[in-house]
Amino acid sequence: MKRHEQLLLENKAWSVEMDQRHPGFFERISKGQEPEFLWIGCADSRVSPSEITQSKPGQLFIHRNVANLVVPGDINLLSVLQYAVEVLKIKHVIVCGHYACGGVKAAMSDASLGLIDTWLANIKQVIGEHEDELDAILDETARCNRLVELNVRAQLMHLAATAIIKNSWKKEQAPVLHGWVFNIADGIIRQHYEMQPGTKAPVDIT
Ligand code: CO
Repeated sequence: MKRHEQLLLENKAWSVEMDQRHPGFFERISKGQEPEFLWIGCADSRVSPSEITQSKPGQLFIHRNVANLVVPGDINLLSVLQYAVEVLKIKHVIVCGHYACGGVKAAMSDASLGLIDTWLANIKQVIGEHEDELDAILDETARCNRLVELNVRAQLMHLAATAIIKNSWKKEQAPVLHGWVFNIADGIIRQHYEMQPGTKAPVDIT
């Protein structure tokens, strides 16, 4: 059996198991979705949002890109955000970064990787804003991990600056913005930052 056919076989087994454990599940989710959370995460294969939070289909509205960035003017992300906030009325936006993020590591190095350099320039901006703090961390892994946290914080600021979030905060007093970091080494997600509706900057809640 080819590797990709194995995925389809696993999917069949999952479908049967879900139906046995949760009778009527697929019928229920066929009627529509009411997710409470928009998850903005890294494309990294080790950070599967549904798996690491034990969420079932229907619980998370998900957008992923390299290094979980909220880039002003990114029509892809903004479309997801608008639909999530204005149509689905989600109550929480979670930006979840992760330690050992390849995108963040690449942004810290001077290596040129091609097209992705343009994307990662957004992280270089975060580095520039926190140069003193980052330079003071001598251990490379620790410095990279701190940048992962600061990067998540910066993306909350970018979210809060969008017209979509500003309008929603005025009208709905929602959503709350959360900055989380997943630790690949122990599988635990920790809360780092939070932004309540109408506030100007993320609060450090570690
Ligand atoms: Co990553």
